[in-house]
Amino acid sequence: MCNGTCDGLLFSLACWINWLRLKLVSTSEILRIRPVPDALHLTIHPSQFPDVERAALIDGLTNRCVDPRLLYQSPLQSARWLKVFERWAPFVNREDCRAIYRRSSERAAADLAGEVAVIALGCGDGSKDMQLLEELNRSGANLRFVPLDVSAALVTRASLAARKFVSSERIHPIVADLARANDLSNWLDDRLPPVGGRIFTFYGMIPNFEPLGILPVLANLLRPGDRMLFSVNLAPGNDLDESVNRILPQYDNPETRAWLMTLLEENGVAANSGELKFSVEPGPELDELRRIVARFHFVGDTTLKIGGTAFRYPANTDLRMFFSYRYSVQQIERLLVRFRMQPLKSWITNNGEEGVFLCSAET
Ligand SMILES: C[S@@+](CC[C@H](N)C(=O)[O-])C[C@H]1O[C@@H](n2cnc3c(N)ncnc32)[C@H](O)[C@@H]1O
Repeated sequence: MCNGTCDGLLFSLACWINWLRLKLVSTSEILRIRPVPDALHLTIHPSQFPDVERAALIDGLTNRCVDPRLLYQSPLQSARWLKVFERWAPFVNREDCRAIYRRSSERAAADLAGEVAVIALGCGDGSKDMQLLEELNRSGANLRFVPLDVSAALVTRASLAARKFVSSERIHPIVADLARANDLSNWLDDRLPPVGGRIFTFYGMIPNFEPLGILPVLANLLRPGDRMLFSVNLAPGNDLDESVNRILPQYDNPETRAWLMTLLEENGVAANSGELKFSVEPGPELDELRRIVARFHFVGDTTLKIGGTAFRYPANTDLRMFFSYRYSVQQIERLLVRFRMQPLKSWITNNGEEGVFLCSAET
């Protein structure tokens, strides 16, 4: 009797295992034979998981200083930032600015051949990186492209644009917070072949970071032999204060205001609860530096609720929404050298307001 029951149970178990095996095989076959045509495979690094973003927002609202990376994350923020870029970026509006990116890309490409990886840190929509990809593609390099940004919408745009020069399976997009993705080097090693050249771009990024925070991150990512194209918004002339004050209207304009207000609007703060004001201030870490700062000044007592947390802003207090450093050429060259990035050559626009530096990583 027992034997009969046990045999029956064993038989059922064997049938069930066989069914599971067939099911797994057929599922994997379906996965193998039906890739989604043209799909883009994004890696979302844990540094950009929603709970991390939320914690950063709560921290910023509590300490009244919003981390600049929080200004680009939602689709509406990305779309409004693109409007600022199209209306105000010298790269879009001035031929001499496009020329410095083109010439520096040509010069960088001349040193690279065979397997080449372009790693675009804070790629935005990738329009500046396309010049380098085009140049390397023309010179016959076998390209890989790694666009990295906190904005999934912008990484997607950059990846799709790159398909003109790089085959889809050699594009490795990643949504990550550059300042906090400590394992980025390993992630790159897993995707990029051990032989070949690597060139990083860090275009338009340095203004929105504390330099002593981000430059060590770059220094750790770069290895001897790597190259980097690094672009900077500059303050031309000998009088830094006068120069930065002259540039202020490039920031205090309707498109930038609309972009900066998105974070507050999306979190329930009405635009008429206060006013955005722009000023020029010394850097908190290095007081010889100058930066343009935008703060939202509350006109009346305001309470902002996110989840279960309430943030109270009495009248006449403010919330720092944005900052952008403007460097002199000497200041930026000194900082690059201090963090073992040797500037090899630079290209500066006619008005002296933007520069691209080709750097090599030192041992
Ligand atoms: C001023 S835009 C520059 C975009 C592009 N490189 C260019 O020059 O046109 C700054 C870019 O950096 C991204 N970004 C800001 N903070 C970041 C961070 N911590 N990690 C990665 N990307 C970041 C933004 O989403 C945005 O696309």
